[in-house]
Parts: sequence; structure tokens; C-alpha cells
Amino acid sequence: MSLKNSAITKRLEDIERIIAIVSGKGGVGKTLIASTMALTMAKFGFPSGLLDMDFTNSSCHLILGVDVLKEKPVEDMGVLPVKVHGIEFMSVAFYSRGEALPLRGMEVDNVFRELLMITRWGRLKALVIDTPSGFGDVILNIATYLPRAEFIAVTSPNRLSLEALKRLAGTYMRERVLGVIVNMSYKPIHSSVERMGFKVLVEIPRYDNLEDYMGYVDRLMETEFAGKIEETVLKVLDESFKAGYNGLT
Ligand SMILES: Nc1ncnc2c1ncn2[C@@H]1O[C@H](COP(=O)(O)OP(=O)(O)O)[C@@H](O)[C@H]1O
Ligand SMILES: [Mg+2]
Repeated sequence: MSLKNSAITKRLEDIERIIAIVSGKGGVGKTLIASTMALTMAKFGFPSGLLDMDFTNSSCHLILGVDVLKEKPVEDMGVLPVKVHGIEFMSVAFYSRGEALPLRGMEVDNVFRELLMITRWGRLKALVIDTPSGFGDVILNIATYLPRAEFIAVTSPNRLSLEALKRLAGTYMRERVLGVIVNMSYKPIHSSVERMGFKVLVEIPRYDNLEDYMGYVDRLMETEFAGKIEETVLKVLDESFKAGYNGLT
């Protein structure tokens, strides 16, 4: 293992679970799901982090209502993620001033590793990673540099999104997929997903008013959508999480 890789491993050693939210197609709800999952864990009382790895289109900060021009990770032997709504949050948006980072090839690799090498996460139960659509560089880097990372795949019920999921099922990453979230669901597609060898974690309908809650976390967390994410988080996390959750109900 190279020095750089071991530096990354060291930075992540206090994190129990690393969960990357992935999909072949864009617009299926990865960013909203990743952000809401991290917020839900914090709501349950479990230290959680959110890492926005969608370099060209980072948008978790918009959901969290974080002004990346005003709030900045503090430098201290690396950088400390921004604490917001009970979660630790890190994104390249803090450095790109919220604008697109036009990266290609090795540049993606460099930013990916740099971000992981500088960020000093606390002791977390889980780090949720938002990723760009498709199974390109960032996903492959996660698979390579973060051997402990698990994936949750998101799909909508449409044919093209399901085809992309099937492609994921055809890669070596399939073993690391915890399950599939069917988002903006309008028809049952359980059996198609299960035929690919994946478990359906939850089916989430389309909610017309969700757009109104971007940037308003308190209101977002009261929606039926957030309720579905709670259900999912409970399924995904281990018994100790469930025990903690039961204590809160
Ligand atoms: N279940 C849902 N109902 C209604 N709108 C949704 C739902 N899930 C996501 N959205 C909206 O769909 C859009 C795309 O979601 P996003 O999380 O950016 O997708 P991705 O990250 O996969 O490209 C966003 O405006 C988001 O608020
Ligand atoms: Mg996204």
C-alpha cells in the first residue's frame, strides 16, 4: 500500500461504516437521499458525516442550507469538516466557491485523495458519501481506496435507470451493494431488482412538495420522504443502532 493510501486509511480509522450512495443515472435522488441519511443518523443520536464527492456538481450544501462562501472548514493539522445540523460535512464546494470543478482523468484522482487525506473526521458511526452519477472514476476510486466502503444503489422505476442498475450488477462492485432504494416509485419493481441479485431496501414515492424544503432541514426532516429514509437507515445499520433508536421512540 502506498504512503498516500495509508494516510487515507488513517484518516478514516475512527469511522465505523462508510456508505456510498450510487446510481448509474442522474436525477434519481442520490444527493437528497445521502444528505437525509446523514441527518437521520444524527437525529437518532449517532455521530455521522456527509462527504460530497460529486466534484463537478456538488449540491449537498444546497440541501443542508450551507453557504459555502461564508462557512469554511477550519484548518488544524488538516481540515475539520463543518459541523452543521448535527453532522460533520465536507465538500469541495467549500474550495470551488460552489462552482463546477472541471476535472478530468488524474485530476479527479488527485482531488479525491487530497480530500480524504486532509479531512479530519471525528469518531463517527457512519460516513455517508454522495457520488456523481454513473460508475466512473469516483466510484472506482471509492471501491479501490476505501476497501471498507459499502454501496447503496438508487434507482427510479424507469427502464433506463434499471438498465444502469443491471450494469452495476455486472461489475465486481455488486458484492458491496447493501441494497437498492427505489426512489420516485410509481410501479412495483421489486422482482426486477431482486432478479439482479439485489435487495430492495425501501420504495419511496414522488412527493410534489419536496422541492420547497431544499435548504430547510428542519422542515425536510418532518416530511414523509424523511420518514422513508428513517426506515431505510434502521434497516441498513446494525443492532446497536437499532437499540439506540428504540431508546428514542
Ligand atoms: N422522492 C422524491 N420526490 C420528489 N422529488 C424528489 C424525490 N427524490 C428526489 N427528488 C428531487 O429530484 C431532484 C434530483 O435529485 P438529486 O438528489 O439531485 O438526484 P441525483 O443526486 O441522483 O442526481 C431534486 O430536485 C430532488 O429534490
Ligand atoms: Mg447528485
